[in-house]
Amino acid sequence: MDIATPPQPDGTTILADAAPTPHEPPVIRREDYRPFGWLVPEVSLRFDLGLDRTRVHAALTVQRNARADHSDTIRLNGDGLAARSVTVDGAPCTGWSMDGGDLMVPLHGDSHLIEVETEIDPSANTQLMGLYASSGMLCTQCEAEGFRRITFFPDRPDVLSVYTVRMQGPKAQFPVLLCNGNEVATGEGEDGSHWAEWHDPWPKPSYLFALVAGDLVANSQGFTTMGGREVTLNIWVRVEDLPRTDHALESLARSMRWDEEVFGREYDLDLYNVVAVSDFNMGAMENKGLNVFNTKYVLADRETANDADYDAIEGVIAHEYFHNWSGNRVTCRDWFQLSLKEGFTVLRDQLFSQDMQGEAVKRIEDVRVLRQVQFPEDSGPLAHPIRPDSFREISNFYTATVYNKGAEVIRMMRTMSGPEAFRRGTDLYFSRHDGEAATCEDFVRAIEEGAGLDLAQFRLWYSQAGTPKVEVALTHEGETATLHLKQTVPPTPGQPDKKPMPIPLRLALFDRASGAHRGEELLVLDRAEASYHFAGFAALPVLSINRGFSAPVAIERHVPAEDLLFLAAHDDDPFARYEAMQELLVGHLTAASGGGLDAAERAAGQEAVRSAFAAVLTDKALDDSMRGELITLPGHGYLAEQQLVADPALIHAEREALKTWLGRELEADLLAIHHRAAAVPFALDRAAKGARKIRTQTLVYLAAGNPALASELAAAQYHNATNMTDRQGALMVLAGLETAARTACLLDFYNRFRGNDLVIDKWFSLQALSLHPQVLEHVKALARHLDFTLRNPNRVRSLYMAFAANAHAFHAASGEGYRMLADLIIELDAINAQTAARMVPSLGRWRRTEPGRAALMKGELERIMATGSLSRDTFEQVSRSLG
Ligand code: TRP
Ligand code: ZN
Repeated sequence: MDIATPPQPDGTTILADAAPTPHEPPVIRREDYRPFGWLVPEVSLRFDLGLDRTRVHAALTVQRNARADHSDTIRLNGDGLAARSVTVDGAPCTGWSMDGGDLMVPLHGDSHLIEVETEIDPSANTQLMGLYASSGMLCTQCEAEGFRRITFFPDRPDVLSVYTVRMQGPKAQFPVLLCNGNEVATGEGEDGSHWAEWHDPWPKPSYLFALVAGDLVANSQGFTTMGGREVTLNIWVRVEDLPRTDHALESLARSMRWDEEVFGREYDLDLYNVVAVSDFNMGAMENKGLNVFNTKYVLADRETANDADYDAIEGVIAHEYFHNWSGNRVTCRDWFQLSLKEGFTVLRDQLFSQDMQGEAVKRIEDVRVLRQVQFPEDSGPLAHPIRPDSFREISNFYTATVYNKGAEVIRMMRTMSGPEAFRRGTDLYFSRHDGEAATCEDFVRAIEEGAGLDLAQFRLWYSQAGTPKVEVALTHEGETATLHLKQTVPPTPGQPDKKPMPIPLRLALFDRASGAHRGEELLVLDRAEASYHFAGFAALPVLSINRGFSAPVAIERHVPAEDLLFLAAHDDDPFARYEAMQELLVGHLTAASGGGLDAAERAAGQEAVRSAFAAVLTDKALDDSMRGELITLPGHGYLAEQQLVADPALIHAEREALKTWLGRELEADLLAIHHRAAAVPFALDRAAKGARKIRTQTLVYLAAGNPALASELAAAQYHNATNMTDRQGALMVLAGLETAARTACLLDFYNRFRGNDLVIDKWFSLQALSLHPQVLEHVKALARHLDFTLRNPNRVRSLYMAFAANAHAFHAASGEGYRMLADLIIELDAINAQTAARMVPSLGRWRRTEPGRAALMKGELERIMATGSLSRDTFEQVSRSLG
């Protein structure tokens, strides 16, 4: 049941208070948005810092907002705070009251100075929102609604203020004091304390506030912007981590240059600080001039970070940097507009990484994530549009839909307009809305005007959830080929009926005889059904469609395996080659696990896959990185998505059976590649990186086909490894085998990297993800390991996110996997609600799972619900999953 939120006296919407909540937390609706009754042009904060006691004095200059409804009370949001004193214009205020966690202050004039004092205990903050302690240092996380855990404030993104912050604390404990903007003054007290004053000239919402105090050192370099500004870049870490910061620093400089060149965006402060923190709920945070990062996305050297880690660091550093324009200079009016900054910034970081790491492979990786994570979200109980209409807890909407589908939606605009026109659109957006809190609609209008597109119907992509399905058929008669397209947008919770949306499809028609096509075309399917004629074809051509994944849709078509083999070998669009391989594999595995194949059909399907793989393995013109993509099997989640109701055990069994069969059939080719790749010396270039990728990938197939041989090869790769990519790859393969080398190498890995949290996370993760038959027992033992703790989100994710993604263990027919995850959610919810709630979707797909398991999954959701004192975060995810 939804509880509508009554509008408040000052025209704002109630923002409910802290977890845990015994009753249903209120639903917040996009349509209820009202401008805030007051402007807060200036904020002055004073922090008296201590790990378990921090005093905060806040002085807010407030002015009546002429563009909002009149109100004689200002609502200052608070979450678990008590006001020690409240003054208005210097005089004690007696009329204040509390409404839930919020402080209500009566105000009668048009402008006032409100001062409030609060006291907080950072060491008791296990939610990691607001001000908290992490290995002896203090840091903040305010997005989305964490600032209200520090002081009372209109904690909403459309209230922009200039901040001045003075902080003081014991110098020995906190030698480094950092905040947004620039440091303007420092000093020392007699009692061993010191202080620093920081000023950020750029007006910002409270969610971008940040403060860090700790014993840190920086890896620094200078950067001259295109306009000649000299900027100091600092990556702040604990002293022992300093040798692992070069890659992050170099990535930052590359991002800054790229944003100047590709989007014309220049940095706007003299200082850019990045701080690495071990305890962090997400990847990183774009606070103005003071990014706070999960150590996972900062620290790297070749012994402790693999190639994927290097790429992820470059991508996340870029993402947070790009937010300086798409998020900070232009921010969001309200949290329903989250995709305005996140979708756009993900697109920007994807385009950057395409330029840095290679366009084809990066595009394939991004599409794989979309299909494996976002497609299931879009077809399950948590489906929502990229611009949601309602929420109970905004933290639950930092989703693959808002981020990744959001990026795809903007990418479609770019595909339809072309990159130059799109750039005119983004230029207009940035100049028109600089300094404002904008909406998705503002963005679309700017692109429409600047790029010269008509996006009237396209706006449906912002309001309709669900992955559109496009049915495709190609026929031929006389000299004409005809393409028939039909789209349907499936019903999703709260949205039973959908309208057709504009779907841009890049396509090419290949002549079978010559193997060439006449040039790529872009079609925009904007009706439910349409046919397109192509003249001049003597025979039925081979269709390559949705090239480059030009639209985030599911293509459904029935084409003979020979057409897919043709495209896998000949298509000049690398994504389309990958796609043809995937279509072949998905088609075979879906038919096999749906029980729809007789022996002859199964043999024919396997043979088609074998010949495609053989061609890929022996194609001399392919680079290894692309080769690795082409022989990647579709993930379990994407395969399950193909069936209305899936049996995870059957999907897993068929997927493994195919691997085993390929490993046996292609053993000689796989071995040859493995040995060739093993001889390539370590380097950071694309060729060496590709060799490392294919080296472990061939091992994966060999392990399925010939475990004894693979165990020897993997042990050798493990022991001879000069880098984490090879070592982790080998250990990952060994973890799935029942051999002595497994035990020995797991022990060696642990002892070798003991004390390095990020590497020990890998050790937890690869055991939880392994193909070993005893994974459930292993996970239970790991949960009791001395190095396991519920206090550290990376550690929790390394064990339980990995476990929940391990189909054969998590979906054990006994329901034990579901029970273990539910137990974890219940225990973690009281400690870190955000992280607990992120585990719920794994149980939420019960309706799409076969009836036996569905009942067990639903039973666990009901058990979580029955615990009664759930956080707002977990309550919302569980109730939507049951609903
Ligand atoms: N804005 C951050 C990003 O995408 C996301 C983020 C970081 C976040 N920490 C958070 C969101 C905590 C919610 C809660 O770059
Ligand atoms: Zn972001």
